Amino acid sequence: MKKTTSAIYISGLLAFFAGAAQAAEDVGSRNLAAACAACHGTNGHAVTGMSALAGMDKAYMVKTMQEFKTGKRPATVMHQLAKGYSDDQIGQIAEFFAKQQK
Ligand code: HEC
Repeated sequence: MKKTTSAIYISGLLAFFAGAAQAAEDVGSRNLAAACAACHGTNGHAVTGMSALAGMDKAYMVKTMQEFKTGKRPATVMHQLAKGYSDDQIGQIAEFFAKQQK
């Protein structure tokens, strides 16, 4: 009986930590994405003709950000900005925006 109780307790604890890690990751990508809001709108909902990032295809955004980074795609500001993010962070940002409603 006692064994069962502690097994339940431990699995509950593990579920709690897994949940907390997941939440931390979501907050992390939201914070990274917040840096884009000044120009591309809150959560990627652009106003006044700016490119909307909300609902943008993840693969497209990753590719575009890489092209900005390497200078393959000419830009006025994005080539500078893109250099500030690691490939991992770009992946997280792209994932966040892909999940936003258009
Ligand atoms: C200072 C304003 C500014 C900020 C901040 C900014 N952008 Fe941009 N973004 C632009 C401009 C301007 C363009 C058009 C290309 C250019 O001239 O740089 C653009 C273009 C883009 C494009 C290409 C859109 C398309 O339709 O192909 C993507 C993707 C993009 N930005 C992603 C981001 C992401 C992700 C962030 C946050 C990490 C971000 N931008 C932050 C100004 C900004």
